[in-house]
Amino acid sequence: MSVHPTQKRISVPDIRAMKSQAKIVMLTAYTKPMAQLIDAHCDVLLVGDSLAMVLYGMNNTLNITLDTMVMHTQAVMRGSSRAMVMLDMPFASYQESVEQAYRNSARAMAESGCQALKLEGGVELVKTIEFLAARGIPVMPHIGLMPQRVNAMGGFKAQGREDDAAQKWVNIAKQFESAGAFGLLIEGTVEPVAHAVTKALTIPVIGIGASPACDGQVLVTEDVTGLFNDFTPKFAKRYADIGAEIGKAAEAYAKDVREGSFPEFKHCFGVKQSV
Ligand code: KIV
Repeated sequence: MSVHPTQKRISVPDIRAMKSQAKIVMLTAYTKPMAQLIDAHCDVLLVGDSLAMVLYGMNNTLNITLDTMVMHTQAVMRGSSRAMVMLDMPFASYQESVEQAYRNSARAMAESGCQALKLEGGVELVKTIEFLAARGIPVMPHIGLMPQRVNAMGGFKAQGREDDAAQKWVNIAKQFESAGAFGLLIEGTVEPVAHAVTKALTIPVIGIGASPACDGQVLVTEDVTGLFNDFTPKFAKRYADIGAEIGKAAEAYAKDVREGSFPEFKHCFGVKQSV
């Protein structure tokens, strides 16, 4: 009797193998219902720490905890069966030491059931990637615009405008690849930087506001469906306006309640059909 369950989900090796074969589709998901709606269309569901701003209305992503990330990732796991699920390690949960990174990463994987983790960082992250990858924790580093560094960057600003930026990021990305990263995410850089990084690596590079040349793209689902309107990044195409539809539904419901014209009351327990 086999002790291995049938593997249905897209795995880390599947994503790696997509480099130069097929574009990788990634969207964020924070909840079970959203995961259920988009799972069939995505290769990767990212439980991004952007949920701090999108779901909880915080000003940045710094104050979200590992407990919260684990809880949302558990929900996304319950709502999906096909896409690989990746948890975004929150600020201050992995930067202190490789031991801290391992302890929190192992906990995140074990408790949430996700397949991979995303960590923001530069060259200082190389040792951490090596430590985690050697211990069976698949890591996708996140470079370029790193929202967890919003204070150091002085805002959410596009990165990579210096003359030597492409070479600098290619060097760092190659060190990540040698350390065992299975992929790379690059956010908010000028196009030639993301282009050069994508061409230089043998692991897939996922872009967000970076370059169409990347091996895949990720966007925040609420940005592309009209569910988050505080601000919309320039690069996030609006594919639907569900937010407006929800507003219309609430308006219609409010009208029914206020006018007492609530046809569903006839189905209430103990209420006669004639009501
Ligand atoms: O937190 C997040 O959702 C992200 C993506 C925007 C890449 O990091």
